[in-house]
Amino acid sequence: MPMQLLVNIDHIATLRNARGEGYPVPAQAAQICEKAGAAGIVFHLRGDRRHIMDHDLSELKESVQGVLDFEMAATEEMIALLHQVQPDICTLVPEGREELTTEGGLHLAAVFEDFKTRVFPAIRNGAAGSKVEISLFVDPNPDDIQGAIELGSDAIELHTGTYANASTPSAAQAELDRLATAAKMAHAAGLKVNAGHGLNQKNLTPFLRAVPHLADISIGHALISEAVFHGLANTVQAYMTIIEQVKEEQR
Ligand code: PXP
Repeated sequence: MPMQLLVNIDHIATLRNARGEGYPVPAQAAQICEKAGAAGIVFHLRGDRRHIMDHDLSELKESVQGVLDFEMAATEEMIALLHQVQPDICTLVPEGREELTTEGGLHLAAVFEDFKTRVFPAIRNGAAGSKVEISLFVDPNPDDIQGAIELGSDAIELHTGTYANASTPSAAQAELDRLATAAKMAHAAGLKVNAGHGLNQKNLTPFLRAVPHLADISIGHALISEAVFHGLANTVQAYMTIIEQVKEEQR
């Protein structure tokens, strides 16, 4: 599966909610992103509804033509909404009430039994759940990759935040090495390899060059922020250009 850009539109909703107005509309942003070439859209419906809200779900479902990735905590409430929306991908993430953003990957050892006996069967239940790709947001360490494999996950999403926030080039390189090893391990077991968190126009190229087998690259905060100055379509195209350049190098 070739690597492609999925745009996370959560912070369009952050801007809307800051004034309690009805604009900007996440579904409208999604349409602009797709028209500019993005392969799909990611949204995270948090338990506290701080950005995406329930009424956005049907609007996003209706307007997104490409891949729709529903990022969520593994709660009964979210699984019920997942079955209503029927996205292409369900990305499971840890969710902390006090955090500003998702702070790291799932610790699969801690949730393994719960995911195996409750979460996976509940997600895959019935016609609504049988087609969704389950992706687990994990840090690039072998134990969590092994956990995802043993759970029978369809995909992992590698947490790139530690790479993005590395304070020295050598720390960044060490994290790229860990990401590459994790990607190879997941790919060898037949899992799709997605990635995201903290990626921007500066750190994206070294990441794409270093890590093999990448599929969906999920980018939100930096892209939406840059779009304020340069326009959403232009900014999506700038990210697409970076991805296409690296794909060209790898041909
Ligand atoms: N992937 C996951 C699982 C996330 O939680 C987030 C942030 O919501 C992203 C990707 C996108 O990260 P960023 O907004 O830093 O690009």
